[in-house]
Amino acid sequence: MSGIRSTGFLHLGNYFGAIRNYVRMQDEYECYFMVADVHSLTTHPDTKELKPNVHRVLAENVACGLDPEKVALYCQSHLYETGELYMYLNMLAYKGELEKTTTFKDKARQHPENVNAGLLTYPVLQAADILLHRATLVPVGKDQEQHLEMSRNFANRFNHRYGDVFPEPYAFNFGEQLIKVPSLDGKGKMSKSENQYATIYLSDEDDMIRKKIMKAKTDAGPTEPGTPMPDYIENIFLLMKLVSSNEVLDKFLDDYNRAVIRYGDMKKQLAEDMVVFVRPIREKAEAIRNDQKYLRDIMEAGAEKARKRAAETMEKVREAIGL
Ligand code: ADP
Ligand code: NA
Repeated sequence: MSGIRSTGFLHLGNYFGAIRNYVRMQDEYECYFMVADVHSLTTHPDTKELKPNVHRVLAENVACGLDPEKVALYCQSHLYETGELYMYLNMLAYKGELEKTTTFKDKARQHPENVNAGLLTYPVLQAADILLHRATLVPVGKDQEQHLEMSRNFANRFNHRYGDVFPEPYAFNFGEQLIKVPSLDGKGKMSKSENQYATIYLSDEDDMIRKKIMKAKTDAGPTEPGTPMPDYIENIFLLMKLVSSNEVLDKFLDDYNRAVIRYGDMKKQLAEDMVVFVRPIREKAEAIRNDQKYLRDIMEAGAEKARKRAAETMEKVREAIGL
């Protein structure tokens, strides 16, 4: 089980941290993936863009290879059971721990005019999304590790207080370390950020991708052998590792180690490989986004599949609580 908020276009971080693993899981596992429109309301109260954004995220997931026939792909607000479970889990979540959550502190700092209770209890709603399916594996990026720990805590407290209903959910990347795709400005993770040049969107046109990568910070000449690789150079290598061939990556690593690297050439190569990676996703997503009926059908079928599982869970939940 996993989800992505409908707060705008998706980016490389969403792809490599999350969607790529959704696609890898779809043949082997029973999967529930949702577009988190309710979560988006905590920070994006303007609802004019709500539906277009849901369609956008849905189309981009499908364009990345997610098959709505193989998984339950649904919209969070369509599953009313989530709200009920969220309410019960709130009795197991403590104000102190919620206030200490990194994402809450960050968002409260960014938008002091809108520190609402939904923002504070975001990890509780997220736990409800996951536990509703009694999910065990949650494909997410590294930034979600703390939230998953909270989901496990709420599940364990529920089981302890009322009786065993929930397995423990864990962040999942096929046994490998969770992914953090770096931002192009060298500051933290790639995100739907204020600095549009720091993020590569799956909807970016070819020339925009080239422009963004060529603007990324590097040094004028090779780094002297023996000095540690600066973060901003490491980030370029990290991105290259994601979209370029091993031969290309090895060549530039070798150039780096011999202190003969030309960063202009490296960025040109990365830009072309990035263009080749993004273009088919962008084109496919555009086509899918124009097919409103197809998108509505996907969501309807997805909600039906998800509702079946959710109804089973809620019966167990109510029985355990004694309602
Ligand atoms: P955003 O942080 O861009 O608003 P979400 O919070 O909706 O996106 O996250 C959706 C998924 O994408 C989550 O699984 C999250 O871990 C993953 N993700 C987001 N940014 C990155 C990143 N830079 N690197 C790896 N995974 C990421
Ligand atoms: Na995130």
